[in-house]
This record gives sequence, C-alpha cells and structure tokens, in this order.
Amino acid sequence: MTTLTTPPLSTLLPELFTAAAAADAPLRAELARMSPDERAALMRGAGTDYRAFYGRARDMYLPISPETGKLLYILARTRRARVIVEYGTSFGLSTLHLAAAVRDNGGGRVIGTELEPGKVSQARANLARGGLADLVEIRDNADDSPEYLARVRSPAGGYVSVPFGDDVELSMRSPA
Ligand SMILES: C[S@@+](CC[C@H](N)C(=O)[O-])C[C@H]1O[C@@H](n2cnc3c(N)ncnc32)[C@H](O)[C@@H]1O
Repeated sequence: MTTLTTPPLSTLLPELFTAAAAADAPLRAELARMSPDERAALMRGAGTDYRAFYGRARDMYLPISPETGKLLYILARTRRARVIVEYGTSFGLSTLHLAAAVRDNGGGRVIGTELEPGKVSQARANLARGGLADLVEIRDNADDSPEYLARVRSPAGGYVSVPFGDDVELSMRSPA
C-alpha cells in the first residue's frame, strides 16, 4: 500500500482529474479545431508572452495525465527523493504525486511555484485535502529563475535532464 493508492489520494486524484477534464474541455476543443500550424503559432506566442497566456488560462488545470503522474511517483520513489522542486504547480495534480512519493520516501520537502494566485490557493487546498500540505511549500512570487534552470539542465553540474510527454521536463542530480 502506498500514499498514492490509499485514501484520501486514491479518491481525490480521480475527482481532480475529472474536474480538470471538464474545466479544460473548451480549450482542448479549440486546439482540436486548429491546424498544426495554428497550434504551433499559439505555442510560440505562449513562449514569448507566457504571463498573458497563462493569465488567460487561469481557470484551466492543464494537468499532467494520470499515467504521467504515476510515472513521476515511481521515478521519485526509485530515486528516494527527499527534496523536489517543481515549476508550474497549477491546481496541484503533479504536486500531489510528487508529495506522495516524498511521504513514502520517509518525508522531506516539495517546493512548487505558480504564477496565478487563484491556482496557488486551490493547490494548497487540494494538498490539504490529500493530507500532504505539511510537505509542500508553494511559492507564488517566483521569477523565471533562468540561472537555476540552466544549472539543473547542465550535465557538467552533474544533472541529467529530459523533456517527456508534451508537458514535463525532469531534471535529476546524479548520486554523488
Ligand atoms: C501545464 S500547467 C502545470 C500543470 C501541473 N504541473 C499539473 O500537473 O497539474 C503550467 C502552469 O505553470 C504556471 N507557470 C507558467 N510559467 C510559470 C513561471 N515562470 N513560474 C511559475 N509558474 C508558472 C502556469 O500558470 C500554469 O498553471
């Protein structure tokens, strides 16, 4: 038995993924109507003006998939992670998986960041419902931290970094 597969998370996660599917349905339908070129142009625009883009998406979860969540849990468990930093917490679906892994690894700390104040409040509430609030700090005033991101993407600094799926980039420091 794990934190992920027992209550409250075993019931909270399906509830939140269902809520996310409903909240994000209009955006997904709009994206499905676009041509590949239009979608690429939208994502290029998001990259250059991401604050405006995510401001318009303030009510959307844009979550990882349930499968990616489980994969994050397995990776963090396998690595015995006790400290995890996440950029882009949104409503906290990925964070719940990461914090569950840290709990099952014996405790530690998950630091999340989120631009949108409404999402920060909702993520904190979801983590409280999941019984994981004691492990998680969500920072609402983080900048883009380009130096930090460059460091955790640097093989010379001992990190392995990989984007996977459409929406996750994972960086891990090799064991000393
Ligand atoms: C794809 S969603 C993240 C989904 C989340 N990881 C999950 O699985 O539920 C991206 C989120 O990152 C936030 N975001 C974008 N740029 C950010 C930044 N520079 N700092 C903090 N949050 C950011 C957006 O507001 C948005 O909520």
